[in-house]
Amino acid sequence: MTQSNVRSRGQEVRARAARVGVLLLALSSVWPARADTPRQRSEAVRAGRELAEIVCSACHKVGPTQDIATILDPPAPSFQLIADRPTTTAAGLRRFMAHTDWDHHTFPMTMPDLMLEPDQQASLAAYIVSLRSTKRP
Ligand code: HEC
Repeated sequence: MTQSNVRSRGQEVRARAARVGVLLLALSSVWPARADTPRQRSEAVRAGRELAEIVCSACHKVGPTQDIATILDPPAPSFQLIADRPTTTAAGLRRFMAHTDWDHHTFPMTMPDLMLEPDQQASLAAYIVSLRSTKRP
């Protein structure tokens, strides 16, 4: 390995560490609360929405006002579509987030493990369920 290779490897590792740091900083600012009272529940929905806008919006349309395009073709299902499925529950969403684990090779791509904390999974699930359209029977 040449000297410049070593140097660019080091730069790459540092750049990656910086990106992880930025993500952690972003996550800590939207750290969700426990959802026991109505106030805490609406706080969880708010935290879930902010987290979704940061972490999920690259692949999913996470809300009606999202104006950035998603990167996948075909796109991952929108959160509205997921929320409106009759079979969708908050517990089921949390289970999915805890167990999904795309191996970075299989095509078409499935959902990667985003290494979310249980509290974050709960907030995201609360947010997705909150999108349920009232038209639903
Ligand atoms: C890198 C792209 C990517 C990101 C980022 C991503 N997802 Fe996904 N997600 C997918 C794909 C692709 C699918 C559809 C395939 C599957 O079900 O695994 C999916 C499926 C899902 C499903 C199941 C939908 C169904 O059909 O039942 C849920 C729930 C979900 N994602 C939630 C999330 C949440 C919450 C986030 C943010 C924390 C997130 N996703 C971020 C790619 C992504």
